[in-house]
Amino acid sequence: MATIKAAILGFGTVGQGIYHILNEKREDLRKKLGVELEVAKILVRDTSKERVPGTRHLLTDNIEDCLSVKGLQVVFEAIVGEEPAYTYLKKAIMNKCHVITANKVMFAKYGLELQELAKQHGVFVGYEATVAGGVPVIKTMKNLLLVNDISKIQGILNGTCNYILTKMRAEGWSFDEALKEAQALGYAEADPYMDISGQDAFKKLMVLSALAFGEQPNWDEVKVVGIEDITPEQVRKAKEKGLRYRHVAEVEKLPDGTIFAQVGPMLVSKEHPLYPIDDVFNAVTMETNYIGTLTLVGPGAGMYPTASVMVEDYAEIIGKRAGFVVTI
Ligand code: NAP
Ligand code: HSE
Repeated sequence: MATIKAAILGFGTVGQGIYHILNEKREDLRKKLGVELEVAKILVRDTSKERVPGTRHLLTDNIEDCLSVKGLQVVFEAIVGEEPAYTYLKKAIMNKCHVITANKVMFAKYGLELQELAKQHGVFVGYEATVAGGVPVIKTMKNLLLVNDISKIQGILNGTCNYILTKMRAEGWSFDEALKEAQALGYAEADPYMDISGQDAFKKLMVLSALAFGEQPNWDEVKVVGIEDITPEQVRKAKEKGLRYRHVAEVEKLPDGTIFAQVGPMLVSKEHPLYPIDDVFNAVTMETNYIGTLTLVGPGAGMYPTASVMVEDYAEIIGKRAGFVVTI
């Protein structure tokens, strides 16, 4: 049986999740895909940190150790920020590797370019994990777009914000307590300001805009507001009135063809579809011409939901190569 060699870039919450799932599902994936997968190298910054037992020999802080693995075919990327992730994935694609990323900060800016480059080199880019954690938004949208037009997308795209707003309302926690717990649970970004400032939701919205409309609005013209100024007093008053704060991102193609987007907190009543979406859950509503309105809901962050969709991307890519899966 053939062996596919893979590298994992980043071995924090998401990277370790990928490693665990690949191990746990090894037999099953082998049977389903007809190939063995071997994780050959793992990129980190600090190779001396204690991590998953039995992986020390795989760790390196040098990207060339990863990309020069003989027969490397797949690169999972779960590091942080635009660079060096963009440069690494570009190199990997040019070396004819399939790449699978969770990094929306990088992908919002370079996603269209990397996908074009991948086409030229006959490889695939999986990016389900860049938006809404374990919720299959990207594959659903790709399927929808085969037949439908999407005119508007609205949703809760940041699990950390939703978790904080939920805990402040339901448990009376302070903002800082709730954020600390979201960090402990692996939901928050390495720099949690990305979450609470709305920037993380904005980057995910831009990934969705590129997919749904083939373009993004001018980033400088998008109003992005976070949740950091919402006080416990405001949350309490909203609760008394039967309202809930939600952090909502939306992008829409207007009749004149321009793309309008905005990100910020919204007060919703119980009639609103986002009202019951609590904790780390995300929700994404798509308005389409044939199906009408469709909403997907599920865990929007965390080790296993995120890593799981990255391994699904791997299975789809390998399956497609073998000719028995038609999506992607
Ligand atoms: P994390 O726990 O902070 O892990 C990041 C990993 O990347 C660490 O192992 C770190 O190495 C490594 N790293 C960071 N910068 C690097 C660089 N320049 N060169 C080499 N290695 C580098 O972060 P995470 O939560 O796993 O998130 C990883 C990515 O997935 C991010 O882009 C994030 O936005 C995205 N994401 C996260 C979630 C989630 O729920 N956590 C969900 C969806 C998407 P050291 O350990 O040595 O510092
Ligand atoms: N920090 C992100 C969130 C991780 O809380 O939604 C998932 O992308």
